[in-house]
Amino acid sequence: MSQKNMQVTLASRPVGWVKESDLKIVESEIPTPGPGQVLVKNLFLSLDPYMRGRMNEGPSYAENVKIGQVMVGATVGEVLESKNPAFKPGDSVLGYYGWQQYGVSGGAELRKVDPKLAPLSAYLGVLGMPGLTAWFGLVDIGQPKPGETVVVSAAAGAVGSVVGQIAKIQGCRAVGIAGGKAKCDHVVNELGFDACVDYKAGNLTRDLAAATPKGIDINFENVGGEILDAIALRLNPFARIPLCGLISQYNEVRPRGMDNLVMLLINRVRLQGFIVSDYMARAGEALGDLAQWVGAGKIKYRETVADGLSNAPRAFIGMLKGANLGKQLVKLA
Ligand SMILES: NC(=O)c1ccc[n+]([C@@H]2O[C@H](COP(=O)([O-])OP(=O)(O)OC[C@H]3O[C@@H](n4cnc5c(N)ncnc54)[C@H](OP(=O)(O)O)[C@@H]3O)[C@@H](O)[C@H]2O)c1
Repeated sequence: MSQKNMQVTLASRPVGWVKESDLKIVESEIPTPGPGQVLVKNLFLSLDPYMRGRMNEGPSYAENVKIGQVMVGATVGEVLESKNPAFKPGDSVLGYYGWQQYGVSGGAELRKVDPKLAPLSAYLGVLGMPGLTAWFGLVDIGQPKPGETVVVSAAAGAVGSVVGQIAKIQGCRAVGIAGGKAKCDHVVNELGFDACVDYKAGNLTRDLAAATPKGIDINFENVGGEILDAIALRLNPFARIPLCGLISQYNEVRPRGMDNLVMLLINRVRLQGFIVSDYMARAGEALGDLAQWVGAGKIKYRETVADGLSNAPRAFIGMLKGANLGKQLVKLA
């Protein structure tokens, strides 16, 4: 093959906000599969908030990216060459090849996906990690009951948009929190949430109270900071908080905590942090529901797609700042 493999590596560890210069576009040879290995041409790359954490030094639940290493990330693509009997050229696969056009690996971490059941990109979003996160966080940890009020922040994004729609399917009142009128209109008019609070409008506490007249039974937390503090004031006794993410703090040099912790005490609230990778053995439970709901039109999804790997750094920073509607992807080919 005369082509090269374009890659994006970590050039420096960001202090505070990520800069495009923290990431570097490089070229290498397209790898050759060894015995038992598969060569995949990646067609879509998923951009996710957790990648910001992987750019940091220091301990976390997963290993960080080293300087000079290709940025990690989930990909869907097509098998070009296989020395593994479980895969053949032309197979569509979900992998974890990172920010690059081609990847080589053994088959253990690859999963075949069916492009006839759903567009390939959906396996990185609603039928992939973000969909699983929404399902396990809400259904398993939140344990919604009909008539309860579920609030979800980052509601127009990949995880939040699915959380609110599952809440509706479970018979709950679904209230989103999102940045800007356009996102809130989308959340209510397209996704079917009962209400959406625009946290950028300047009246978060008042607007949240109006949107949650019976208080909050489940807070699916994606953001943290002042949004979590405002929500804490609306929690009902025995509310649940699946703590999924704290995106407002990922680029802060000194992340802030929670002001209104006492509200969790007096309301006997159960808060549980979770990482979706702990649930992979049970993924089938969630994927069955999600595939059925998407097929039946009960869950709708949007994608924001950057064109080409060279635009990935800008798209990643944009996603962290809220430029995306739905799942942020990069189209690689
Ligand atoms: N625990 C897990 O296993 C797991 C797995 C997947 C994702 N997550 C977490 O889930 C959350 C959502 O992830 P996602 O992949 O679905 O991303 P996403 O919601 O598609 O994109 C991120 C969104 O965060 C919002 N945001 C950014 N800064 C904000 C701020 N200061 N205040 C309020 N909102 C802000 C932006 O929306 P606005 O325009 O509305 O501000 C942006 O669109 C993240 O916290 C992520 O880390 C956790």
